[in-house]
Amino acid sequence: MPLSTVAKRGLLITFEGIEGCGKSTQVRLAEKALLQRQIPCVVTREPGGTPLGEAIRDILLHAKDLAMTPLSEFLLFSAARHQHVTAVIHPAIEASQTVLCDRYYDASTVYQGFSRGVDLNFIHRLNQAVTDKLVPDLTFILDVPVAIGRQRILQRKTAREPDRIESYDLSFHESVRQGYLQLAESEPTRICVVDAGQPVTEVHAAIMKLLLPKLTNED
Ligand code: TYD
Repeated sequence: MPLSTVAKRGLLITFEGIEGCGKSTQVRLAEKALLQRQIPCVVTREPGGTPLGEAIRDILLHAKDLAMTPLSEFLLFSAARHQHVTAVIHPAIEASQTVLCDRYYDASTVYQGFSRGVDLNFIHRLNQAVTDKLVPDLTFILDVPVAIGRQRILQRKTAREPDRIESYDLSFHESVRQGYLQLAESEPTRICVVDAGQPVTEVHAAIMKLLLPKLTNED
């Protein structure tokens, strides 16, 4: 088969940030913008994305009365992640689709590693094992002060009780924010920090400015 007819592998684009940073809105806007340009894409999320992943998500976010050590928490996220990568992400990128994923393994490095103290080397090794070393092609960290994130959560139309992780105290969420910024400094080629305190349309424009060249210049 001539090389030009071999389908290109799709890209994996991940979105990260503290609670209330606006990830879900930006993932949806990016999907719309790609589909308008006839770029096939799939939206998915962690924890979740598969029936097993959604069941694990339910435990992780809603089982407030269960004692859960940081390591147990990490292992549950990792189980969900392995199923997700195997059943959803790999097949999609092999089928030349761009995957827009709302959180991925960086969330474990930051939440379970930096903020809850699980050994970072162990996290790195297990992240590699459960993803078969699938590194995102581009990661957006939507950065916003913790107080603004909190305010946005409270103002949501579909206001609900904070989930198990949202209920951690402000200092936890501040350490998550700092953890993401530290991670971005350590991998500046892959990870882009976007100021998510700007209006939604401006955040979207900043994301598309970085994303579109990746999608159109890939060889
Ligand atoms: P989130 O993606 O913020 O969902 P929502 O759209 O409901 O706001 O919720 C997922 C939560 O799980 C969030 O608190 C971050 C946390 N999390 C981890 O602690 N580690 C992980 O590896 C992942 C993927 C998520």
